[in-house]
Amino acid sequence: MNHHAIAIDGPAASGKSTMARALAERLGLVMVNSGAMYRAVTWKVLEEKINPTDAAAVRELVGRIRIDCGHDGTFSTISIDGVDPTPFLRSAEVNANVSAISAIPEVREKLVALQRDYLKSTHVVMEGRDIGSVVFPETPFKIYIDADPSVRNHRRSDDGEVDSVETRDAADSSRTTAPLVIADGATVLDTSKLSIEGAIKAAIDILRAQGFPMKQSETLKI
Ligand code: CDP
Ligand code: CDP
Repeated sequence: MNHHAIAIDGPAASGKSTMARALAERLGLVMVNSGAMYRAVTWKVLEEKINPTDAAAVRELVGRIRIDCGHDGTFSTISIDGVDPTPFLRSAEVNANVSAISAIPEVREKLVALQRDYLKSTHVVMEGRDIGSVVFPETPFKIYIDADPSVRNHRRSDDGEVDSVETRDAADSSRTTAPLVIADGATVLDTSKLSIEGAIKAAIDILRAQGFPMKQSETLKI
């Protein structure tokens, strides 16, 4: 591996995006939101009025669409057939259907390849469900972020989103292909009682212990 990959995995609303964003900014890496890729495909399925439970139709769609992934220097970007779906990715409809779409192996195969492509050109902190277990199993830098289900539900509803984190977690943890697991070598960080700053500080300590090449100037920003 030529570039570093920090893998951040965990259940819904545990604080993965907040953490990955902060680490990207402070350590000078590109933050890749892999959930946005699964959400983008789900958005396209719904746009095309395809039944999300019709795996054959979803596979056919995924075979013919063009997915372009990139970054703006700090954050990942995505477009599908030339359209940026970002404004539509946190809708109640996408929340309700994304776990069904992401359980389809051919969807995962296509997106995992795009996720791995990032490392060809940049260091990344990537967050998702299977980053430490499937996408970059060989990276030594892995954090599994968790928080109590009631805390996570509150966080999501405070964000004003219609979402059922338990339903999604149950589906994501029980699927056959790439279920949510604590990857080999990952350090678990429970953020239930931590402020955002406290969680970031704890993550920096974990990464330092895992041998991440931390520059003194970067750690002083904490
Ligand atoms: O932000 P939140 O944790 O609620 O979800 P997300 O990271 O945007 O992911 C949305 C959904 O995409 C998850 O519920 C999973 O079904 C799927 N996903 C996945 O299967 N694998 C990943 N690496 C990332 C997301
Ligand atoms: O990406 P994921 O779904 O795992 O969670 P997130 O979108 O980073 O965090 C969900 C919400 O919890 C956001 O509003 C964060 O500001 C909040 N949060 C928090 O209150 N305390 C933390 N230690 C981390 C996140």
